Amino acid sequence: MAISKKSGKKGGVAPTVAKPVKKTAGQQFVKADWKEGFKKKQTGVSDMTLLTTISNEAVNENLQKRWLNGEIYTYIGAVLISVNPFRDLGIYTKDVLQSYKGKNRLEMPPHVFAIAESAYYNMSAYKENQCVIITGESGAGKTEAAKQIMAYIAAVSGTGEGADGGQRIGEIKEMVLATNPLLESFGCAKTLRNNNSSRHGKYLEIMFNERGEPVGAQITNYLLEKGRVVGQIDNERDFHIFYQFTKGASDEQREMFGLQGPESYVYTSRSKCLDVQGINDVKDFADTIKAMGVIGLSQQEQTEIFRVLAIVLWLGNVQFEEMDDGNARIADKGVTDFIGYLMQCEGAAVEKVLIQKIMETQRGGRRGSVYEVPLNPAQASAGRDALSKALYNNLFEWIVQRVNVSLAPQTSHSQLIGVLDIYGFEIFEDNSFEQLCINYVNEKLQQIFIELTLKTEQEEYVREQIKWTPIKYFNNKVVCDLIEERRPPGIFAALNDACATAHADPAAADQSFIQRLSVLSSNQHFESRGDKFLVRHYAGDVMYNIPGMTDKNKDQLVKDILDLMDKSGNTFLHTIFPDRPDPNSKKRPPTAGDRIKSSASALVENLMRAQPSYIRTIKPNQNRSSSEYDVKAVLHQIKYLGLQENIRVRRAGFAYRNTFEKVVERFYLLSKATSYAGDYIWQGDPKSGCEKILIDTGIAKDEWQMGVTKAFIKNPETLFALETMRDRYWHNMAARIQRAWRNYWRYKNECARRIQRFWKNNKEAIVYAQARDYANTILAGRKERRRMSILGSRKFLGDYLDVGKADPLMLKGSAGLASGETVAFSCRAEVLISKFGRTSKLTPRFLVLTDKAVYILAAVAHDGQPVVQLQRKMPLVTIKSVSLSNLRDDWFALNGPISDEGDPLMTCVLKTEFVADLVKLSNGSMNVHIGPTIEYNQKKDKKRVIKFVKDENSRGDPYKSQTVSVTTGEPTNSVPRPLPKPKPGQVRPITSGKLLKAGGPSSKPSSTSKPKPQALPGHSVPIASVKPVIPVAVSAAAQPASTSAVKRHSMAPPPPPPPPPVATAPEVPMYKALFDFTGQEGEMSLKKGALVEVEEKDDNGWWLVKLNGKEGWAPSNYLELVPPKSKAPPTPPAPARRPPPAAPQAVPVAAYIPAAPKPPPAPAMPTQNGLPSGMNPAAAAIKAAAAGGGLGKPSGMTPAAAAIKAAAAGRDGATGGLKHVKPPTAPTVPTVPTVPKVPKAPGPPVATKPKPALAPKPGAPPVATKPPVPGGIPKPPPPPPMPGQVKKPAGAVGQMDLAAALQRRAQRIADDD
Ligand SMILES: Nc1ncnc2c1ncn2[C@@H]1O[C@H](COP(=O)(O)OP(=O)(O)OP(=O)(O)O)[C@@H](O)[C@H]1O
Ligand SMILES: [Mg+2]
Repeated sequence: MAISKKSGKKGGVAPTVAKPVKKTAGQQFVKADWKEGFKKKQTGVSDMTLLTTISNEAVNENLQKRWLNGEIYTYIGAVLISVNPFRDLGIYTKDVLQSYKGKNRLEMPPHVFAIAESAYYNMSAYKENQCVIITGESGAGKTEAAKQIMAYIAAVSGTGEGADGGQRIGEIKEMVLATNPLLESFGCAKTLRNNNSSRHGKYLEIMFNERGEPVGAQITNYLLEKGRVVGQIDNERDFHIFYQFTKGASDEQREMFGLQGPESYVYTSRSKCLDVQGINDVKDFADTIKAMGVIGLSQQEQTEIFRVLAIVLWLGNVQFEEMDDGNARIADKGVTDFIGYLMQCEGAAVEKVLIQKIMETQRGGRRGSVYEVPLNPAQASAGRDALSKALYNNLFEWIVQRVNVSLAPQTSHSQLIGVLDIYGFEIFEDNSFEQLCINYVNEKLQQIFIELTLKTEQEEYVREQIKWTPIKYFNNKVVCDLIEERRPPGIFAALNDACATAHADPAAADQSFIQRLSVLSSNQHFESRGDKFLVRHYAGDVMYNIPGMTDKNKDQLVKDILDLMDKSGNTFLHTIFPDRPDPNSKKRPPTAGDRIKSSASALVENLMRAQPSYIRTIKPNQNRSSSEYDVKAVLHQIKYLGLQENIRVRRAGFAYRNTFEKVVERFYLLSKATSYAGDYIWQGDPKSGCEKILIDTGIAKDEWQMGVTKAFIKNPETLFALETMRDRYWHNMAARIQRAWRNYWRYKNECARRIQRFWKNNKEAIVYAQARDYANTILAGRKERRRMSILGSRKFLGDYLDVGKADPLMLKGSAGLASGETVAFSCRAEVLISKFGRTSKLTPRFLVLTDKAVYILAAVAHDGQPVVQLQRKMPLVTIKSVSLSNLRDDWFALNGPISDEGDPLMTCVLKTEFVADLVKLSNGSMNVHIGPTIEYNQKKDKKRVIKFVKDENSRGDPYKSQTVSVTTGEPTNSVPRPLPKPKPGQVRPITSGKLLKAGGPSSKPSSTSKPKPQALPGHSVPIASVKPVIPVAVSAAAQPASTSAVKRHSMAPPPPPPPPPVATAPEVPMYKALFDFTGQEGEMSLKKGALVEVEEKDDNGWWLVKLNGKEGWAPSNYLELVPPKSKAPPTPPAPARRPPPAAPQAVPVAAYIPAAPKPPPAPAMPTQNGLPSGMNPAAAAIKAAAAGGGLGKPSGMTPAAAAIKAAAAGRDGATGGLKHVKPPTAPTVPTVPTVPKVPKAPGPPVATKPKPALAPKPGAPPVATKPPVPGGIPKPPPPPPMPGQVKKPAGAVGQMDLAAALQRRAQRIADDD
């Protein structure tokens, strides 16, 4: 029996479980729903399996109580009992419908929507066809229930939105719903029992694709009560359509079909019931036309349908007169002529076929002579009615087929839901062949019910060796056999035999039938009474009248009528009469009894293939009263429907059973013994796997039993609990996937941001590094190198004195640089000054190289004021060459034109960079002389040669008597050391999500070995290869919502291991809620002042926040960043050991980009960098000044204060002040005493912002030996902060780590971001 699910709703399911679970810390309890108090109290019991006394009377009392209280639905397990309210209870509104969506049966009061939901859910979840069998007597509410089921399925099933077939799915839904008004018009009529009585059976199958969207439908029609076309008992009506058409037809139709009101036609007026209370035929006609349009009937098709209706109506008006010879004559030929016009044939032909029949004699099986036999008026009337019935019946069948053509699925479908709405059991005063057929079909449906709910169920328990006490019930198979059996012949067989033997004379055939029935008199359910017989049906005794039965069973049109159809010029008539019996065939054409028998057994077969749901409708009274509860009548129905037995079996039985394979397939995820990371891993047989799952999920042992091939679950609540766990599992997985996806995006974006940031930060530095590499090539192989000459961290920044920008020493003005003149290089240097009679002496100077000239400036004291004076300007075009020694010293001479001043001979610790810039500015045309001596013009006419000799004892490359003593350096072919590795800093984790480890995902394989996936029972490949499953086991959150209800066994599968904790959790910025916020699903409710962590910031104004371990979205403008608490900075980590330099290789640009460790949060602002000695410029200046000897030691840059101090100390001997010199204040270097008279500097700090340095990629090869010529002058450093801008304090005295400075800057930018 189908059981619905399911999930998610807290408190809805109260599964029976083994042991209570201990309350754990942080466990959330579901709050009581205050709305519960407003819910309508249920009267009686909503599931009659809960009745304390099981008796027909108790059932009746319960139903009565509920019905009187407006509760028309009651369950017996999964069977819905519906008692017709005969009034609108307002229980089919959209809201009510939606309230049943996604709920299991027990979560909501009994309702037809719950049955529909259950069927739809079971179809989608278990991939099994479903059918809803609605039974009950005429007027009990079957058709209404069927319509509500269709409406529910149309409303809740997918819309196919976004998919290609979306429009078609919408059309299918519309068409399915439109079949109701259409088929009701043609197939329903007012009877004494029901104003809208279905006079045919209908089985509608809706086909669904894999997504649960309807893709098509099919209607099977069962035996239309066509006798109603030609006559009805008093106060009943013909089919609705005749009244709709005659009352509501358009003028055009009236004109075309000569149409008049229903009172003008015999067929519609004879029973004296033209109008029905509560039915508006004209409005219904409009609905019918509309439904025809929805289904896709063309205008032409509609016209043809109405033509046939008109023919039938007019045929009814053909009257016969008896002539003297007793033969019939048409009373009004105008009628037959009009029928001829409508049928598009001669009126005479119509007339002929109505008053005579063609007889053919047969001799020895051969066809003999043909005679035209005139008919008497009675025979003629019967023939006329036969024609009318055939026309209408064939029209109806054509309409059903046409609907099926429109509803045919255009794509493949996987499952279907069938809804059976068949004519109800009928007992009239005059019951004939039609009632026999109708009641027979109802007997068959009762059989199915008994088979599946009572018999098969009990047999199954025995077969599966389940402990069971049998329950007695009435099996109506004996009645079915009485009607349908062949041997011994049942009623239908007797009818057929009678028709076969006495085919010519209906009366004789009826007599023959009476005789044949006598053999059935031994049957307890049959009584023969003259020209009547009684059948004791399950639903009551029915007396059937025999006269006319054989003729109705024969149900054959005479040959002449079929010939008339052939003669018609109307192709539609040909279409609806396609079959002509083969006159030569010896086979007896099937009778009406044969047809109903075969279609009933086909129906039963069809229904048995699907999972049935039952709705048993009950009629509370015969008067359509909304207040009268006829206790006796209902008791009768309760008895014959077998409700009492139903309750007993249901109470003792099991609500759900399924094969081990199916149970395992559905629930294997719920046990860690059977699933790992979504794979099925159980190696035992399906039975043991199934048992393991039930044990591991903590289901109490008395709740389930294992059969031979199936597992049985006693209460639906238990199944719902399993379904809930399963839903939670998927829900949990979906949440994990979403989280992982969000983390992945965060990770990706953060990586991209970091890469961009480092590229932004380092692209300038690349230029400097390239400049350095270029410089190396100029001297490479020709000059020995000082071991520390070019440190890996040294970048060729060029303008070390920042002449081009801040110009703290105000050298620009002193040198008289033209505007637009670009400074390529500036540095401190020493020039060899020879004074007559004295030893030449190195004297401090400022060396400035621009794109126009080389400037040599000196700091001198003037009037006690330190000033800088230009000593020498050599335009680049005048410099012929630069001369250097081949040893490791820093001496060089600039060979210019012959002049009084001679060529400057100088030392500069950054001579390589200077020379490189010089060569670059000359576009490579500058000669670089390298040799054991340097030649230069000391004066205009005095050439000097300085020798360079090796002396391992010399210190500082001293000059004496035209000889410079130099210690041995690195070989000429040696290469500079590689760039140092950046210091490892604290790496900021890429994401704050839980799924990624700190620093990003690990590539290390998991240490736990993964169990081998197994093929699911009945599958040939492991489940994971069939459908991808997220590899996470069920977690604690995946347990049923109602933890109080589903308590886990001690052996229950533990939740999956939590993801590894983040190794070094960085301090997370917290945000404070500024206002209260009540979140909806997926959102985070906040109390004002609550502190949350922000996990993701979306641009749409919503941030993903985390509070107490839960995630949810909250409006960003409700949140305010809580300023971080100040914290002592951690000690910077020790520098990593530098790897030994590798062999020179080409270095890609990427090699210049340093890794991105988080810099230690040193408070110092990086100052000028690039000092070979690694000394802070201010400190170097002070040292130099204190030493009083200029920059004998390498100290490429000097802050103003140091320079001025040195100058003031008179090292140069220069005096005289330069008024425009603005020595800057040095607030950032408090240890440097300021010169009292120095005017206050406008702003820039002593040290300018450093240019970014480059750290090599860890493990990167050393710098290339032959790099390309750099594109141009390195970009000047970024401007210093504007006055007023917040500045960080200057760097502390100590080693300047460029990589660290860079990282700090990157960090700053990131923080600013
Ligand atoms: N759930 C309901 N709520 C309100 N009225 C109902 C309901 N069910 C049935 N009725 C009323 O009862 C009438 C008969 O119901 P319905 O046509 O469904 O009976 P049926 O079982 O299909 O009978 P038949 O076998 O004759 O076709 C409906 O026309 C409607 O007026
Ligand atoms: Mg009906």
